Amino acid sequence: MSTTVQMSVNPSDLPQGHDAAEKIPGPGIMVIFGASGDLTKRKLLPALFHLEQSNLLPKDFAIVGVARRPLGNEFAEDMKDGILKFGSVDATDPKLEAFVNKISYHALQFDDASGYPGLKDALDKLAAEKKIGPDRLYYLATAPEYFAPIIENLGTSGMAHPEQGKIGVVIEKPFGHDLDSARELNRQVNAVFPESQVFRIDHYLGKETVQNVLAFRFANGIFEPVWNRNFIDNIQITAAEDIGIEGRGPFYEKAGALRDIIQNHMMEVLGFVTMEPPSSFEAEAVRREKVKVWQAIPNIPIQNAVRGQYGPGVVGGQKVIGYREEERVNPESGTETFAAVKLEIENWRWAGVPFYLRAGKRMKKRATEITIQFKQPPLLIFNRMQSSSAPCPEIQPNIISIRIQPDDGIALRFGTKVPNTPGMTVCPVNMDFSYAQAFGKQSANGYERLLLDAMLGDQTLFSHRDGVEINWAHYTPILQAWAAKKPEVFPNYFAGSWGPDCADRLLEKDNRKWKNSLGKPE
Ligand code: BG6
Repeated sequence: MSTTVQMSVNPSDLPQGHDAAEKIPGPGIMVIFGASGDLTKRKLLPALFHLEQSNLLPKDFAIVGVARRPLGNEFAEDMKDGILKFGSVDATDPKLEAFVNKISYHALQFDDASGYPGLKDALDKLAAEKKIGPDRLYYLATAPEYFAPIIENLGTSGMAHPEQGKIGVVIEKPFGHDLDSARELNRQVNAVFPESQVFRIDHYLGKETVQNVLAFRFANGIFEPVWNRNFIDNIQITAAEDIGIEGRGPFYEKAGALRDIIQNHMMEVLGFVTMEPPSSFEAEAVRREKVKVWQAIPNIPIQNAVRGQYGPGVVGGQKVIGYREEERVNPESGTETFAAVKLEIENWRWAGVPFYLRAGKRMKKRATEITIQFKQPPLLIFNRMQSSSAPCPEIQPNIISIRIQPDDGIALRFGTKVPNTPGMTVCPVNMDFSYAQAFGKQSANGYERLLLDAMLGDQTLFSHRDGVEINWAHYTPILQAWAAKKPEVFPNYFAGSWGPDCADRLLEKDNRKWKNSLGKPE
């Protein structure tokens, strides 16, 4: 049995409006390379329009999509469809048409240097016509092999350092595919753009719930004193997705779950959960603390990393095919669609506390969450009185669950005396805070904040080159070991399950179990 107590916010406590003068970027052009891809339509344009709705974009602003295909006005119309469909925007929104008029398209072969002067002229002409000025934000949403050629061409065509104006480059993931490639890409990027102009995006950092980890820890007096090895037994971070690979076969075959989610998104979340309080929320201060904690992770022994691949199964009541049957996937593929690791952090706060990270596709349900399990208190007095006929004979440790998505919120589990029962029967109950209930439903997809910050030049929520390299250094040996040895039994979990048995065994070795959001064993 477990009971849930809801928690809410008094609407009069909420801040009204925003400080517009501080948060609106200067006039500029956002140039999206790889604009005909899914990301632009599904995430970037809806996010930009949400910013427009909130009056957070400058009045003089233009978006130029750049891709290989020859497209004309149909590009802007296609983006409008994306805004309506993926941004939950009403077609009658009074700001929509004017916003769509700010979108244009320029065809370019990314690796053909001769096309860049033409792009430069087109941007200069647009800027002059619309009186926009020289600020540019280049967004690289292409396949990763084009990152380096685009950056080099921006440099040689004089588009990286105009005389005046703010220039930034946003680089999507994956940033490299192992340590060496990430180092080489960093070298190529920094040969053209100084680090202060580089925004390596990790969209998890745009999620309110991930940012809230810092508020939860550092804006409350009661959690930080117990946030350490003296009180915490273990921390689990789960990124379970019910979706499969969504037609991205060629990409996913080369990526796999460790590269796609664990090396970047989950390590960023781990950084927020475990770092020391920064001296401010300035980019430098936050990044420094994250890097320190990642540096304190000793080598992850290969036996502490396990992998899985989904076979056919049932997800949400629908039959689904296995990974090897997906379009453009090798029928004998050895790519992992699930990965779990155990790691430690050898510093004064965390030594001895195990961290268990897992990420998987086609799992039972979508659930991204952080579970902080506290040590069991001495319970002898309760055990003596607990009767086997009581509604909850087992006393369980306290758990804080931070639900990143969906149903964003935080739950705290604690034991309480069951009323009207003989003796001292203790039962776990959950106090539950839900973002949607407290603040209403949000339409943000995480990119709003990141795009705005990049336009404003704020790098706090972006990855620094040092952090990217440290995290590749942690996972490259595991990736190499996995590449050298084909998994013996793949597929090893059913679509619609909680992943392979080897993931359960990883915790069972330590007498532990994976937890779900309210702390119940799955
Ligand atoms: C992306 C991965 O970075 O994150 C995808 O490439 C994954 O494979 C996605 O589905 C998950 O993002 P979110 O925001 O839905 O958790």
